[in-house]
Amino acid sequence: MARKFEELERLRQQALQGGGPERIRQQKAKGKLTARERLDLLLDPGTFQELDMFVTHRIYDFGLEKRRILGDGVVTGFGKIHGRDVAVFSQDFTVLGGTLSLAHAEKIMKVMDLAMKVGIPVIGLNDSGGARIQEGVASLAGYAEVFWRNVMASGVIPQISAILGPCAGGAVYSPALTDFIFMKRHTAYMFITGPKVVKQVTHEEVTFEELGGADIHATKSGIAHFVYDTEEEVLENIRTLLTYLPQNNTEDPPRIASDDDPFREDPELDDIVPEDPNKPYDMREVIRRIVDHGEFFEVHRHYAPNILVGFARFDGRPVGIVAQQPLFMAGALDIDASVKAARFVRFCDAFNIPLLTLEDVPGFMPGTQQEHGGIIRHGAKLLYAYSEATVPKITVITRKSYGGAYCVLSSKQVRGDINLAWPTAEIAVMGPEGAVDILYRKELAQAENPEELRQRLIAEYREKFANPYYAAALGYIDDVIEPRKTRAWVVKALRLLENKRQSLPPKKHGNIPL
Ligand code: HXC
Repeated sequence: MARKFEELERLRQQALQGGGPERIRQQKAKGKLTARERLDLLLDPGTFQELDMFVTHRIYDFGLEKRRILGDGVVTGFGKIHGRDVAVFSQDFTVLGGTLSLAHAEKIMKVMDLAMKVGIPVIGLNDSGGARIQEGVASLAGYAEVFWRNVMASGVIPQISAILGPCAGGAVYSPALTDFIFMKRHTAYMFITGPKVVKQVTHEEVTFEELGGADIHATKSGIAHFVYDTEEEVLENIRTLLTYLPQNNTEDPPRIASDDDPFREDPELDDIVPEDPNKPYDMREVIRRIVDHGEFFEVHRHYAPNILVGFARFDGRPVGIVAQQPLFMAGALDIDASVKAARFVRFCDAFNIPLLTLEDVPGFMPGTQQEHGGIIRHGAKLLYAYSEATVPKITVITRKSYGGAYCVLSSKQVRGDINLAWPTAEIAVMGPEGAVDILYRKELAQAENPEELRQRLIAEYREKFANPYYAAALGYIDDVIEPRKTRAWVVKALRLLENKRQSLPPKKHGNIPL
């Protein structure tokens, strides 16, 4: 019997070695942790339970028969994060470049299937050369099976990807189908085709970093939701993100005990909006002042900075926040901002996370670049997402709410539940200057002193429309409140809406303007 146990132990030790000491040294020399070290940092200590440690590939070609390494380049299993179960896979670049064979893919499929059965999040740590070329179509089939599972799991269990090394070819599509992508600066990159192919096809000279590095994806393409300097920060922040999320779509997000007074008033908020409607202020400051302990876990921080999205808590309850940032482009809605917010709204709706919208938007961004880029289609995504969302929807208009942006951003008419406005709110079809120029074109053209007339008409328009009372008189705004009382009102609204139930007409699925 003892011999059998020794054999088991020998095989285990072999599997734990991955690609062996030299490959591990090379991994470290690139500034990367090993697949197992990453799992140790991600999971609560001692909770990792490995599966499929003895799986190997089944190829007898290209000399691979001599390179059959236990585990086949991916460590899979389950464990706990802050005491809650998660399924994980962590690709091991030291084994055949972490490439995906069919056996490797089957290990990932198994943890995904398990996660779906028991309703727990899946976290994938990616570090791989992509499809294992020697396996041909079997490897592509493996990827396709993973992609299909990503789609089936979407909206059922949270799916999180960390990119900690190369992620090339079609391999990028599994992370792209997940809910959140974390990237590490300088060692992680994602692209469909690498710099060499780019040079052949388009004659562009581009580095790995410029083509698909973490900063590019966090700022330009919007693929990466989070970007950090170290792997430790990536893994720590995945743990933090999960504290805001339910385990699956049948649960409510986890409420924690909070010692921040739910009815705390903040007098500083009363002065945060400048007298001059064209002066900016920092919406992040507003958020910090109203949420529990000032903690805002921002998503997509570096992408479309004219809109802010992220998670916070009120009275210990997780909430998804969407807010304009007047510091950038006056908070106007453009293509990137619309898509960023639409995806966030849909995530929150899928996972029962109430939405708080803080609105200060002069409208959609004008111009040929936006029009030709499809602002109509992309803006419609945000309208669609808010209209379809059935989670509690609370809106606070802090200043401008003009035009289509009024309609889109969780207005009463797209079924906002509680709509509030600060006394500084301006709710109308368009801003005073634009409105006067259109309404009084003839009068202004004929006037002796057109600028004086224009200023008088602007002042009249502002008096009539640039306030929240016309909307409040129609019942479109439930209450006009002192800014200092915002937190208390939001907490009351969340309590009221805790058991909100709303269903949509039965259908196979809608047709969001993609
Ligand atoms: C088989 C691969 C491989 C691959 C790397 N290796 N990529 N083996 N299939 N796709 C092997 C290398 O031969 C090497 O083997 C080991 O992994 C480590 O790779 P290195 O090149 O030595 O490492 P490094 O210098 O760090 O470069 C890493 C890399 C590079 C940038 C990822 O290997 C590379 O460009 N690989 C190809 C990436 C790619 O184009 N993938 C797309 C495949 S198509 P040894 O013998 O030294 O151990 C795809 C489609 C998916 O993924 C389809 C889904 C629809």
